[in-house]
Amino acid sequence: MSDMPFPETPRVDALDKVRGRPIFGADDARPGLLHAALAMATIGKGRITALETKAASAVRGVRLVLTHENIGAVKSAGFLMAGGYGFQSFQPMLSPAIAHRGQYIALIAADTLEAAIEAAHRVKASYAAEPHSVTLDAPGTETVNQADTPLNKFLPEIHAGDADEAFADASVKIEAVFNCPPQHQNPIELIATVAEWQGDKLVIHEGTQNAEGIRHGVVTALGLEPEQVEVISPFAGGGFGQKNSLQMQTVLAAVAARRTGRPVKLVVPRAGVFHDASFRPASRHHIRLGADKSGKMLAAIHEVDAQTSRHDLFPGEYAATSSRLYGYQNFRGVERLVRTDVQTPGYMRAPFEHAACFAMESCVDELAYALGQDPVALRLANDTAIDPATKLPFSSRHVAECLRRGAERFGWSKRSMPPHSMRGEDGSQIGWGVAIGAYPGIIVPAIAHLKVTDDGDVVISIGGHEMGQGIRTALANAVGRKLGVPAERVTAVIGDTRAAPQHVTAGSWGTASAIPAAEDAADAMLVALAKLSPGDIVGRSPAQVLKTAGRSSLEVEVQKKAPGQPDAIFGRLRSGLPSIGGPVYGSYVTFSYIAHFVEVRIEPGTRRVRVPRVVSVADCGRVMSPRTAASQVRGGVVWGIGASLREVSEVDPRYGGFLNADLAEYVLPVNADIGSIDVEFIDKPDTTFNRAGAKGLGEVSMTGVAPAIANAVFHATGRRLRDLPIRIEHLL
Ligand code: MOS
Repeated sequence: MSDMPFPETPRVDALDKVRGRPIFGADDARPGLLHAALAMATIGKGRITALETKAASAVRGVRLVLTHENIGAVKSAGFLMAGGYGFQSFQPMLSPAIAHRGQYIALIAADTLEAAIEAAHRVKASYAAEPHSVTLDAPGTETVNQADTPLNKFLPEIHAGDADEAFADASVKIEAVFNCPPQHQNPIELIATVAEWQGDKLVIHEGTQNAEGIRHGVVTALGLEPEQVEVISPFAGGGFGQKNSLQMQTVLAAVAARRTGRPVKLVVPRAGVFHDASFRPASRHHIRLGADKSGKMLAAIHEVDAQTSRHDLFPGEYAATSSRLYGYQNFRGVERLVRTDVQTPGYMRAPFEHAACFAMESCVDELAYALGQDPVALRLANDTAIDPATKLPFSSRHVAECLRRGAERFGWSKRSMPPHSMRGEDGSQIGWGVAIGAYPGIIVPAIAHLKVTDDGDVVISIGGHEMGQGIRTALANAVGRKLGVPAERVTAVIGDTRAAPQHVTAGSWGTASAIPAAEDAADAMLVALAKLSPGDIVGRSPAQVLKTAGRSSLEVEVQKKAPGQPDAIFGRLRSGLPSIGGPVYGSYVTFSYIAHFVEVRIEPGTRRVRVPRVVSVADCGRVMSPRTAASQVRGGVVWGIGASLREVSEVDPRYGGFLNADLAEYVLPVNADIGSIDVEFIDKPDTTFNRAGAKGLGEVSMTGVAPAIANAVFHATGRRLRDLPIRIEHLL
């Protein structure tokens, strides 16, 4: 039955989703549920001097007003990137301290949501305000060189050769500074927790990318045993990095449920997504790129100043990707962190790679113009099979093919090189731009449990979280294909700490981590079935083999880790700690790549920028699930357009926090902003990386879109724009 051709199912949960069947965290509506609302700080920094809660308690139906004065023994669960579980180390409501505007200061639990909201408005705080700094250049910030912190142990600086000397000697030099704003991911599913105590056991329903992290985070915060906590998250309505760790409301909901003896549902309103969840930090990039007269890249230097919070160092990894774009002979990358008075920033789709590629790929375009070379030809000439940072080979790299196929599909040969040389029939300025993007190839450990029954059902229990990207479909197809069972009969139990240890699903490693482990489990099952069966099992389903053998079911378990990881990694996995392997794997380095070709049209009068068409060709190894993969790329391109032309979390230095904290004022692209997005895959398996041959796709898809747009805007107008988002006022 192994490896029989089998029709792929495009999306196993599609029918259920359109019928509203999947239960998301906040869909829980059982009788007896209390509803919670939050009161938030109205100063930029300082501390609470007095908190008046009597009026809140007096609202009819209010069961609890929780504040720092009555919360009891609760600890911070620690910061994800410093050995803890939270998106930040600062757990609000444990003291009168206010770290940033919009921080939670009270939680109300009430019989109805209306009563909870009403009471939250009646909480009155008095504060002692302190000066705050919320932008990279504000007085009062503190800049830390990442190499001088403990982060250097796992995120070293990138140093290859002597980039400064080579840059000084280069005959063609490009030097420029780029600014990327803070931005917030806004999944349609709001951050929400339902917490329920069943005796000594705490059950949490929450859409998350990290069920195990929430579990162990709550254990740490409340002083529980891991056996006492279960986290259930079959679906998340979008994550994008925001839901990759314990968030600050979960512990509060758990305390409220324990205090009231009732299940508590807490939905963080949209504004809380801006004020109290992680975000893409502001970053500034100083690039120096040197080449010889033929265009050979001799040196690149990438220095970054990125925003972090006062209480945590959110590590920067920008140069880790910019250093892997071309065969530069010398490279130097530096990450500096600027402490500001905000919640700790975090991972937001292609957190570093989007900004790093914007900066470097804009400079590469500038280099092409300085040399008078075609931007595609310059990129092809600087392609490499060897990673400049480590001198190791790439396990696979098809950048040249992405560029060639993309140029062909786009019609690049019809482009005229000089800026503002192409016009539409309506007089609009046309610009054609190109850029590549890259994202590290990462694998995390997984433990897979596979069960087949004589009625034909197959259940794969494994670490992984479904946020709409299609991991459940990829798992069902992979296991079904191996066992000769239709994907519809394969149930993937994921996002559930009762089923298997749940490593955080992020960093585009979900498929490359879960699928090889699931395929190993299916192979182990085939071996176990063969042992049960006197004859050949080819052509017989697992259920038929079981029936003949008189067995009702059969189970196997396998574990799999990244190449080079020690066995102790499974202990970390079970403890809910990030256990990330790669992108450097001893004898090779793995990255995914993409090339984007973009057309912009700029109206001569209004200077409105449109993006009527994009061609994107991705190198993500083997494509595991064609429909969801193409959908990932289109989503990444749409986000790239948003990140380049629309999105910014506005900051007023006088007040702190973020001003445009809703979907009306945080401007996103809409359907009318998106034209044709033509997606193609190289689809060459990288079996050095893993047996399935899959590399990551979710995040690489958005990298390189911003510079392709900025380069197209230059081609249309002759203007180099180095600050995102690019706006009409920059083109007047
Ligand atoms: Mo992603 S930003 O690594 O969840």
